[in-house]
Amino acid sequence: MTDTRSVRAVLPHVGPVIDPSSSDGRAWLDAEYAAEAPLVRLNMVTTLTGAAVGPDGTSDSISNRVDRAILAAIRRASDAIVVGAQTVRAERYRLPDDRVLAVVTRSGDLGDDVFDRSSLEARENLLLVCGRADADVVAARAEQYGCDHVVVGADAVTPAAIRDALATRGLRRLVCEGGPSLASQFVADGVVDELCVTAAPKVGARAEPFLSLESGPDTRVAHLLVDDLGYSYLRLRPVR
Ligand SMILES: NC(=O)c1ccc[n+]([C@@H]2O[C@H](COP(=O)([O-])OP(=O)(O)OC[C@H]3O[C@@H](n4cnc5c(N)ncnc54)[C@H](OP(=O)(O)O)[C@@H]3O)[C@@H](O)[C@H]2O)c1
Repeated sequence: MTDTRSVRAVLPHVGPVIDPSSSDGRAWLDAEYAAEAPLVRLNMVTTLTGAAVGPDGTSDSISNRVDRAILAAIRRASDAIVVGAQTVRAERYRLPDDRVLAVVTRSGDLGDDVFDRSSLEARENLLLVCGRADADVVAARAEQYGCDHVVVGADAVTPAAIRDALATRGLRRLVCEGGPSLASQFVADGVVDELCVTAAPKVGARAEPFLSLESGPDTRVAHLLVDDLGYSYLRLRPVR
C-alpha cells in the first residue's frame, strides 16, 4: 500500500490540506462523507486502465493510506457494507466490529481466512444474503459460521431486492464495496445514489474492468479530493 500523508478538497471548493490520520482529519472526513438514509453508495478503487486489482491480485496494491481512511469514513457513515463473496475470499477482509457486513452469495462459502482474522463476537455482524434458489445451502453455511442470513424475496438476487431486504432490517445506508461483478450489477440496476471512486495514478495490466457495463449512467462530479501523490477521490452522482 502506498504511503500518503495529506488530502484536500478540490471540488466543489478548494480547501485546506488535511492530515487524515489526525483526529481533526478523521472528523473532517466524517463530515465530508456524512450520509442520511436512505442512501446506496458504491466505493471502489481503480487504476487509470480500469483495473480493480494490482500485481498482488487484490485492491491493496492500488490503494493507499488516504484511500483506506476514506473507506473507513464511508463505512462509519453506513449501516451495512455489502460485498460479493469472492471479495471476502480474495481480499484481506475482517468482520467489522461495529457494522453489518452483508455478503451476497450463492454458495455461502466465505473461506477460512476471514474468520481467522476476526473475533468470534464479530460474527454477529455477518449477514449472508442469497436468493430463494440457494436458501438451503446458504442457511446451512450460516449455521456453521454462527451468523444470520437473509433470503431476498426472489429467485434472482437483484441489487434492488438486496437493498429492500436490508431496509426491512433497518439497514438503509448501504455501501457496496464490490467486487466488480457485484458492483456492476448495482450500477446497471440504477440503485446507486453515489459512486465513490478512487482513481489511482497507475497504469498496468487489466483483466476485467472495475465496472463492466453495457451502458453506464450519466454522472456529475459532486465532490473531488486529491492527495499528495495524485490519487483522486471522486464522488459521482447519477443524473436522474
Ligand atoms: N478495486 C476495488 O475497489 C475492489 C473491491 C472489491 C474487490 N476487488 C477485487 O475484485 C475481485 C473480486 O471481485 P469479483 O467480481 O470476482 O467477485 P465479487 O463481486 O466480489 O463476488 C462474486 C460472488 O458474489 C456472489 N454474487 C454476486 N452476484 C450475485 C447475485 N446476483 N446473486 C447471488 N450471489 C451473487 C457469488 O458468490 P458465490 O461464489 O459465493 O456464490 C459470486 O461468485 C478480487 O480480486 C478483489 O481483490 C477490488
